[in-house]
Amino acid sequence: MNVWLGPGLLPAETLREELAGCYGVVCLLTDRIDRVLIESLPDLRFVSSMSVGVDHIDVAALTERGIPLGYTPGVLVETTADTTFALLLAAARRVCEADRFVREGSWRLENRWSPDFFAGKDVAGATLGLLGLGEIGQAVARRAQAFGMRVVAWNRSPRNVPGVENLDLETLLAASDFVSVHVALAAETRGLLNAERIALMKPGAVLVNTARGGIVDEVALVAALASGRLSAAGIDVFAQEPVPAGHPLLTLPNVVLTPHIGSATAQTRARMADLATRNAIAALKGEHMPHCANPEVYGG
Ligand code: DGY
Repeated sequence: MNVWLGPGLLPAETLREELAGCYGVVCLLTDRIDRVLIESLPDLRFVSSMSVGVDHIDVAALTERGIPLGYTPGVLVETTADTTFALLLAAARRVCEADRFVREGSWRLENRWSPDFFAGKDVAGATLGLLGLGEIGQAVARRAQAFGMRVVAWNRSPRNVPGVENLDLETLLAASDFVSVHVALAAETRGLLNAERIALMKPGAVLVNTARGGIVDEVALVAALASGRLSAAGIDVFAQEPVPAGHPLLTLPNVVLTPHIGSATAQTRARMADLATRNAIAALKGEHMPHCANPEVYGG
């Protein structure tokens, strides 16, 4: 058994070398398991990822070879919904901007308070549009309802969730004061929020993304935030992670940025590790994984 203990993350070249001859892989979302790598591993019988998203893995390449892919759904739902709501509130009420203002000593007697001082955007009474109404989207809907928001959603196949109105994508974008992304990154969702769709958003709307970076066109997002067309954004995930130094998002005051920490609580990370381990142990025993992203490999 090869175990990578660091330092740091496993570089692609080392990953290839370490996996030579391996029967199974337990990996993180930072490990890119692509077709070339999969095809170079004739002995590979399973992959278990400690993540719910599997866009770092070529699922089709695994499925073609009948290799099960374990993932960790369910256990990070509430934690990720909390992160989403934290970003939504922080962006709406300019919390990080205000924090920087106080820390850098800009809060002085002459600007102590005024009627429009750090005026943000109300959440109660506002409309939240959810792109994706899976488990995380639904958990965000529950929080939004408790905060007095109207919740609308777009999902590829509309879902019946109490208090949530299903809308088509364009209508949702035009109607929502806040838009939060909760779809998985796949070929059909890459660039879903492109320049044309961002242009449909309500003037002054706030965008929150705790799903995956590739779903939102970052160039179009930056332009909309810089022009004031969107009032703010809360972004946890990026097209390239870590977000490169000098990325224009880093220069905008009206954006709250976090480094892909949607599921980052000690308890949730332990639950994810536990599920990833259970998937791997099942595969080692020749049993079906309890949480398999490509169950068709088991037939029937
Ligand atoms: C996942 O598991 O895919 C999440 O992005 C981790 O936070």
